[in-house]
Amino acid sequence: MLDWKNQLYYGDNLPILKEYIKDESIDLIYLDPPFNSNRNYNVLFKDESGQESASQITAFEDTWHWDHVAEATFQELLLHSSAKVSMMLNSLKQFIGTNQVMAYLVMMTARLIELYRVLKPTGSLYLHCDPTASHYLKILLDTIFGKDRLRSEIIWKRYGGFKRSSARKFPHKHDTIFFYSKTEDIKFLPQFKPHKPEYLKRFKQDANGRHYRDDVNPTKGGRRTIYLDDVQGDLIDSLWIDINPVNPAGIERLGYPTQKPVALLERIIQASSNEGDVILDPFCGCGTTIHAAQKLKRRWIGIDITHLSIGLMKYRLKDAFNLIDNKDYQVIGEPVSIDSARQLAQENRYQFQWWAASLVQAMPINGHGKQGKKGSDKGIDGIINFIDSPDNKLKRVLVQVKSGKINSKDIRDLRGTIDRENAAIGVFITLNEPTRDMKTEAITSGYYKSEFGGQRYPRLQILTIEELLSGKKIDMPPIKKTFKQAQKEIDKVSDQNDFF
Ligand SMILES: C[S@@+](CC[C@H](N)C(=O)[O-])C[C@H]1O[C@@H](n2cnc3c(N)ncnc32)[C@H](O)[C@@H]1O
Repeated sequence: MLDWKNQLYYGDNLPILKEYIKDESIDLIYLDPPFNSNRNYNVLFKDESGQESASQITAFEDTWHWDHVAEATFQELLLHSSAKVSMMLNSLKQFIGTNQVMAYLVMMTARLIELYRVLKPTGSLYLHCDPTASHYLKILLDTIFGKDRLRSEIIWKRYGGFKRSSARKFPHKHDTIFFYSKTEDIKFLPQFKPHKPEYLKRFKQDANGRHYRDDVNPTKGGRRTIYLDDVQGDLIDSLWIDINPVNPAGIERLGYPTQKPVALLERIIQASSNEGDVILDPFCGCGTTIHAAQKLKRRWIGIDITHLSIGLMKYRLKDAFNLIDNKDYQVIGEPVSIDSARQLAQENRYQFQWWAASLVQAMPINGHGKQGKKGSDKGIDGIINFIDSPDNKLKRVLVQVKSGKINSKDIRDLRGTIDRENAAIGVFITLNEPTRDMKTEAITSGYYKSEFGGQRYPRLQILTIEELLSGKKIDMPPIKKTFKQAQKEIDKVSDQNDFF
C-alpha cells in the first residue's frame, strides 16, 4: 500500500491483464466496452471558447469481424478455459454463426475470464452495455461467475430529450449495467437519494422542531412514530433515473463520444468499495472511472487501447486534480525511449501521431480508419490554441509530426501552411534528426512577436522526439487553451442537473 502508485496503461487490455495484473488483487471492476454497435465513434473536440474544431477524428472503431484473431481466440478458449465456458461458446457459435456478433462475444469472453481472475473474493464487477448484446453478455457472465452471482441488473435511463414518433418502436432510452460478485461475501453499502416531496409532505413538526409522522406498526400492530431524521433517505433500487447523461453543452463534457457521467461511477464506487480499495477500468475511454475513483480516495488502474484516450486522461487528471503523469501516477506502455517511439511509429502511424501530439499538448487532428482522411487537414497533425492579445482572441500553433524521412522541403511546406492558415507558430516534430538545411530553413522563417510585452518566439520550430522525451518544450506564450478543461474537483458543484 505504501509504495502503491495508480496506473494508466496504453494497450490492449487482454495482454495487459495477463502480464501485469495479479490474481485476486482488484476490489471493483467497471467496464464499458464498445457495444458492437457497428459504428465508428468520432471525437469532436471543443476548445476553451466552446468552438468545435473542424477536425473530427475516429476515436475507436466499434466493429468486430470474424477474422483470424477471433478464430484463434475461440480455439484458445476451447482448449484452455473451463468445460462450462467452452460448452457455452460452442453452443453460441452454433446458434449465432461466425459473424461480427460472435467475434465480439469471443473477444469479451477472453477478457471477462481474466477480469474474474484478478477480482478479489470480496470483489464486484459492473458491466455496462446496451440491448445490442446485453442478453448474450449476461449468458457469458452467468457462465463465468455463476448465475447466482448476479446481484443486480441495473437499468440506467440515459436520454433526456429527443424522441421520434416515426420509428415504429418505443424510443430506446436505457443502458443495462450488470452487477456480479465473485462470492457471496461482498462489500456492499446501500445507497440513498433525497426523499421525494410527496413523502416529506406526510411529516409534521413537533414542539422541538423534529419532523415526525404516525404510522401503523407493521410488525406489532398498533401505531408507531417515525422521525424523519431517523430515515436515511430513499433507498436506491435497480432503476436509475436520477443520473443524467453527460450534457453535450455542460461543463463535464470533454468531447469524448461515449463519456459517462461521474455521478454514475460515484454511485457504483460508493456502493461497492471502501476508501483505499483498488478500482480497475479496462476500457477507460476519457477516464470517468479513474476520475471518480481519485475523487473518492480509491486507488485505480485504467487501460485503453488508444493514445488519444491516454492523452485525454492525462489532461483530465491534471486539470481536475493537478496530477502529473509519471510523478503522481505511472503511465505504462507509452514510448519512453527513441527505440520504443520508433517501434510505435512502425506499428501504427496514427497512434504515433496521437502520442507525439500529446507530448506537446496539441489537439490531434488525423484519425485512423475511414474518417481519418489525410489531405483535408493540409498536412497538419495537431493544433495548440493560446491567448496572447488584449481581446483574448485565440491564436494557433500548427503541429506537424513526421516519423519517416525528412528534408528541407518539409519545412518550406510547413512555412507555407502557417502563412496560408494565418497561424502564429509552426512546430515540426520529427523522429529522425533534422539536417542542417532544415534548421537553416526554420531559422530564416523569422519570429512571432507577442502582443503582451513584445517577446519574440521562433516562427518555425523543429523538435525531435528525443528532445521532447528529455523535457524540451515549444517556445511559445504561456496561456494554452487547447482542450475543454475538466473542472477542478475543488469546491465543485456538479452539473448533474442541468440537462433537463
Ligand atoms: C465505450 S468507451 C469507454 C468510455 C468511458 N466509460 C468514459 O466514460 O469515457 C470504450 C473504450 O474502450 C477502448 N477499447 C476498445 N477495445 C479495447 C481493448 N481491447 N483494450 C483496451 N481498451 C479498449 C476504446 O478505445 C474506448 O476508449
